[in-house]
Amino acid sequence: MCGIVGYLGKRDCTEVLMDGLEKLEYRGYDSAGIAVFENGSIKTVKTRGKLSCMREKLSKEGSPKGFCGIGHTRWATHGEPSDINSHPHSNGRVTIVHNGIIENYTELKAFLTEKGYTFVSQTDSEVAACLLDYYYSERNPLKAITETMKELEGSFALGILFKDFPDRVYAVRKQSPLIVGEGEGEYFIASDIPAFLKYTKNYVLLEDNEIVCMKSSGTSYFDVHGIPIKKEKQVAEWDVEQAQKCGFPHFMLKEIHEQPDVVNKTLEDIVKDGVPDFSERGISDELLKNVGRVFIVACGTAMHAGIIAKYAIEKLARVPVTVEVASEFRYMEPIVGENDLVILISQSGETADTKAGLELAKEKGAKTLAVVNVKYSAIARAADMCIHTLAGPEIAVASTKAYMVQITVMYLLAFRFAFARGKISLEELKKLTEELMLSPKAISDVIERKGECQFIASRLVNVEKLFFIGRGFDYALSLEGSLKLKEITYIHSEAYAAGELKHGTISLIEDNIPVITVATQENILAKTISNMEEVKARGAYIIALCRKGTEFSENTVDLRFDIDTELPDMLVPLPTVCALQLIAYYTSVLRGNDPDKPRNLAKSVTTE
Ligand code: G6P
Repeated sequence: MCGIVGYLGKRDCTEVLMDGLEKLEYRGYDSAGIAVFENGSIKTVKTRGKLSCMREKLSKEGSPKGFCGIGHTRWATHGEPSDINSHPHSNGRVTIVHNGIIENYTELKAFLTEKGYTFVSQTDSEVAACLLDYYYSERNPLKAITETMKELEGSFALGILFKDFPDRVYAVRKQSPLIVGEGEGEYFIASDIPAFLKYTKNYVLLEDNEIVCMKSSGTSYFDVHGIPIKKEKQVAEWDVEQAQKCGFPHFMLKEIHEQPDVVNKTLEDIVKDGVPDFSERGISDELLKNVGRVFIVACGTAMHAGIIAKYAIEKLARVPVTVEVASEFRYMEPIVGENDLVILISQSGETADTKAGLELAKEKGAKTLAVVNVKYSAIARAADMCIHTLAGPEIAVASTKAYMVQITVMYLLAFRFAFARGKISLEELKKLTEELMLSPKAISDVIERKGECQFIASRLVNVEKLFFIGRGFDYALSLEGSLKLKEITYIHSEAYAAGELKHGTISLIEDNIPVITVATQENILAKTISNMEEVKARGAYIIALCRKGTEFSENTVDLRFDIDTELPDMLVPLPTVCALQLIAYYTSVLRGNDPDKPRNLAKSVTTE
């Protein structure tokens, strides 16, 4: 989604803004722009395309020279990606950048048109600039903002410059993330910490309907009525190195390599005296014992982590678990009650649909638990209980390490659930935990064999479509492997429960179509092998991800990647998904794509 930056200080503002926008590139965007006060007037440069196009334009047209400004990367919602639709937008005396969606923009546009305003772009954002100008009649920025806030519906974060105040940046937010960086005599606004981490680790979280005014003398905060409020400073735990590539060609590859370490950290954080302990997070055995049903609500990769969790919790704790796509859950009148536990899984903690799912669950009186990577994010703060996953900043759009720690946490929760409900003894709980402790090594072993994944990728580089199949945990992995592959390679890929393929989709199997089969689960291996043979008989090219030593009949498998680990079947998804991530990564690179910036995608989806 869109990225916002703003700066006020003594450095070259254009450079700070461009640098910040580069750090937010991971959010996904199709155009960019900046507006900087230069000798008292605002100079705006914006363009469709990547930041490299912006750099080119800046060198052609000249970089604005100044110390105060705002910048933006746009992920188009209203109006195609174009120079005109790019932010910043100006109207009258106000220049803004906007992230989010103004839902009542049609009504507001009609009202403002009647008042004599004209519009140049197709965006909803320009309406916010006009409305601010309309309420700026007394040349009072704070009043203009508070009046505008009363009218705007939807979600938004705004960075605002007022023409008459060349030494101030204002910002406000409602349901879209925005933070304020507080350095030594310099101040920042940004959609995410990496944008200013290089300059300061101190930041303030703007809550919904709060306003900040940055001046060279410092920052002031106000509520929606314009009344001054005090804000607490936070210190970012992430360091600059974590937000840089550190010699890796892409963030995605770096993040895949970080997985053994972040899984280790997660285990160290949760395991106490050899068993998972969630009591500090308010998740008592009593609570787990009395839960009626579990709902897991999430989107994308996080939802796939939820499917692994479902299989683990149901298998061990014998509690019914339903996994719901958040955008469906929120509108399908779910039957959720006070006795139920709704678990929200989210890397960013800001995903609009997941957040709405959380609000709905709370309305229905259910207990809510957030499993979230970004501390203090909206979902983390709003849920009754929170498990903070320790993946560190995930920059690549395609989620890897966040998924890995999500499933680690969910396994630990499944173990504790089973113990709390008397389904396993303390010894069994310890044994399962000990086994999970072996997973960082198993993941490392797969990473060391990345050359083999690269070789598999070389077979996929020119295909137009392919399939993933598996059963049980392997099906959950197939879904994630397929999503990873399609999002960064643009190859049409579908994942099926292996037994389901013959009910229609098998008609698509032709000579040489790759079918990536995940076959790691001993209890259903024979069944999966039958499904492999069915597709092989129709000409498929079979790539198997299986445990070392798995035997297939002659000529069934064309290529294989053996998972060589002592982990029990239930935990084999941890190393196996790593192989799937590497296959997707290398296929993307071999096809000449940039895996860190897949087309049309955004890292944090703050719209419905
Ligand atoms: C976007 C990202 C996905 C992610 C999904 C959910 O679509 O591109 O990688 O899985 O959002 O995000 P969340 O932050 O809630 O985990």
